[in-house]
Amino acid sequence: MRAQGGASASPLLEVTDLKVYFPIRKGLVFKRTVGAVKAVDGVSLRVGFGETVGLVGESGSGKTTLGRAIVQLNRPTSGTIVLDGTDLAALKAKELVAMRTRVQMVFQDPFSSLNPRLSVGNIVAEPLVIHKVGNAESRRSTVAELLELVGLQADDARKYPNEFSGGQRQRIGIARALALKPQLIVADEPVSALDVSIQAQIINLLVRLRAEQGLALIFVAHDLGVVRHVSDRVVVMYLGTIVESGMTEEVFERPLHPYTVALLSADPVPDPKVESQRNRLVLKGDIPSPASIPSGCRFHTRCWLREQLGNPEICEHEVPELRESGPAHSVACHFAEDTTTPVPASSHVAVTGRDEGEFDAPPSSRPVDSLDRPTENGEST
Ligand SMILES: Nc1ncnc2c1ncn2[C@@H]1O[C@H](COP(=O)(O)OP(=O)(O)OP(=O)(O)O)[C@@H](O)[C@H]1O
Ligand code: SF4
Ligand SMILES: [Mg+2]
Repeated sequence: MRAQGGASASPLLEVTDLKVYFPIRKGLVFKRTVGAVKAVDGVSLRVGFGETVGLVGESGSGKTTLGRAIVQLNRPTSGTIVLDGTDLAALKAKELVAMRTRVQMVFQDPFSSLNPRLSVGNIVAEPLVIHKVGNAESRRSTVAELLELVGLQADDARKYPNEFSGGQRQRIGIARALALKPQLIVADEPVSALDVSIQAQIINLLVRLRAEQGLALIFVAHDLGVVRHVSDRVVVMYLGTIVESGMTEEVFERPLHPYTVALLSADPVPDPKVESQRNRLVLKGDIPSPASIPSGCRFHTRCWLREQLGNPEICEHEVPELRESGPAHSVACHFAEDTTTPVPASSHVAVTGRDEGEFDAPPSSRPVDSLDRPTENGEST
């Protein structure tokens, strides 16, 4: 790791006040814009060279949209995305092609993200062809190297995606993402479509590649145990905005935003004894629609702390800024200093045992083993 994304270092990536809105249109012939889905709504984020930033939040909080905007698969509505000094959001389509080599995405579903009609060799070589890197012969040897780097065999280049399992396909997706030697990879839930037994291998592969290739990583996951394992810093999103960010251990040990407190309390602990004695804070209701964002603090409709404090008006009327609350720890809550007080059971929050949960909890946290050696077919040991 060369540097962190803290305030002083010049970061690899600096996203400032990024908005990605999807227009809502009505009318059969003359489509009128009647509103917008504000999937990302004013996000500012820094990622240092070689740094791993974990991105967490409930389904619909805008993680994928943010990731896709960073790799320019979604053009932003406004804001800047500066990668190593160049604002990607301001580039014209032609100029973007060159910059795309520097930031790549690994997708959640290795079954739909690989073209079934192309051989693995062609899939991995595709970015090299598009960007006119090397000739046919040099590409073949680059593909062989990449396949071996991700734990597959050079000969696998001749095969087709349907000849591989999910874990192996994800390795192929990672090889393709590495082909152009990017500085940053956005990995959007790279293991959630895989069998539990394979997940640790792919995580460990990403961790190893990050170290070996000096890659920065934005790692999106629902599994907080995995995020804690791989991330230098963690960023918590709610309804299109960042509500908390900080060094991973600091956020996990001392969460300040009531939403982060709820997310962490819903995350199962691997030790069954500890887990059975633990109380869980269960948020009621679903995340609101990003087409109709609550006023003031957008979490106020579900906030247990607000209720505990007697529903102060400021929560409903004033947007809390993301402010520094300590070294490398920021939070967007008017009352973040009060999150350490005991949590009562109330209409917005239920303190329950594990089996009674209503919260859409992330899958169970598992300790991630040290790097497992893939077998001949690139999978479990
Ligand atoms: N192309 C689109 N058009 C309209 N709305 C969209 C589009 N893409 C995403 N959205 C909406 O934007 C919001 C954020 O979606 P996004 O996929 O970024 O969330 P997420 O945090 O990645 O969720 P998950 O954890 O389920 O993957 C959702 O309400 C989603 O329905
Ligand atoms: S500002 Fe108010 S509603 Fe928002 S998180 Fe803080 S206490 Fe809850
Ligand atoms: Mg997503």
